[in-house]
Amino acid sequence: MRRQVVIIGSGPAGLMLGALLGRAGIDNVILERKSRDYVLGRIRAGVLEDGTVGLLRSLGIAGRLDAEGLPHHGFALGFAHRRLRIDLTEGTGRHVTVYGQTEVTRDLMDARLAAGMETVYEAEDVALHDFDGPSPRVTYAKDGRTHEIVCDVIAGCDGFHGVARESLPASALTTFERVYPFGWLGVLANVPPCSHELIYAAHERGFALCSMRSPTRSRYYVQCAADEKAEAWSDQRFWDELRRRLDPEAAAAVVTGPSIEKSVAPLRSFVAEPLRFGRLFLAGDAAHIVPPTGAKGLNLAAGDAFYLAEALEEFFVERSEAGIDDYSRRALARIWKAERFSWWMTSLLHRFDHLTPFERRMQDAEFALLESSALARAALAENYVGLPY
Ligand code: APR
Ligand code: PHB
Repeated sequence: MRRQVVIIGSGPAGLMLGALLGRAGIDNVILERKSRDYVLGRIRAGVLEDGTVGLLRSLGIAGRLDAEGLPHHGFALGFAHRRLRIDLTEGTGRHVTVYGQTEVTRDLMDARLAAGMETVYEAEDVALHDFDGPSPRVTYAKDGRTHEIVCDVIAGCDGFHGVARESLPASALTTFERVYPFGWLGVLANVPPCSHELIYAAHERGFALCSMRSPTRSRYYVQCAADEKAEAWSDQRFWDELRRRLDPEAAAAVVTGPSIEKSVAPLRSFVAEPLRFGRLFLAGDAAHIVPPTGAKGLNLAAGDAFYLAEALEEFFVERSEAGIDDYSRRALARIWKAERFSWWMTSLLHRFDHLTPFERRMQDAEFALLESSALARAALAENYVGLPY
């Protein structure tokens, strides 16, 4: 079999890239290790930058998003039992949309199916070959048989634990990493949210986040130990801990109910450079991780897919290598700014056990600055709604 592009991974990065390439008439196949149902069962974040929404609209995949997504024009920072509203629209003229990543994934998968573009699910032992030359190959096993695809380009969109980045010699990559000494325990429940906007709350017991998927479905998180076991948390324990960390009004407004999902996620910042090795390109979590505090993971994956699709269009349609030569630089310039923002939000809002008294005062001073300076709030808003592509 021969294809122009083999995409590894059917998360937001791979699906978005596949859709953009398909629109440009570039033939591609997605190889995904898991089943469709497994991928759609993963609960991930839920805040879309307006650039991500624009990308989905331009692809004609935003029908459900436009009908069901919730436009949010602000969110709150909680600290010292106070709440400070960050007006997103006042500072930027833009807003974000609350719509689950799982739903974005479903919409992209459905559109791909309808367009007749191929995805191979449950592709095992995916292996990359010869990407340092003009005719790379990808092999995989499916239904007990080994398959081989010869292609022009491989896109590694297979997440942090994928095979693409692992296929590179260590000497080809420079990596940058910060592992945070805590995790987030998340709960999804069919209860109305405690506030119509998100609340990111700093508290001496640890950070808490009040988010939502719809007017009747809430997503809440509390900072926990990195090795915390979700099973150790009864629903009651979770609700009690959440309420302790919120201001009295928010705490009183929390409606509790049985959890429908409960899981612990680690927090990490990570970047691998560069994003191109011959005919292999990395995009999304395969190349970088942000802690979820800035809600940037999915949006960064969309940005990478946009840059890479543009570069590949130049390569296949205009026969120019200028775009692919510049992909890594262009994407990394935006990635590092989102890394900075996510690290800053994480540092501001979490409880760190070993902060010096000076560092604690720095957290307080950041809040005081945000409280007193419309320009500081506008800078936060500008990053939160998403920097331009
Ligand atoms: N072979 C084939 N597929 C693989 C392999 C492999 N060896 N390893 C991983 N995959 C698949 C995973 O099963 C997953 O479906 O690659 C996909 C990667 O998807 P994501 O992890 O969602 O990564 P990405 O598309 O870059 O999206 C980034 O997703 O992880 C969240 O918070 C993150 O919001 C961010 C977004
Ligand atoms: C979520 O709704 O899951 C969510 C929202 C905002 C974040 C992280 C996660 O910053």
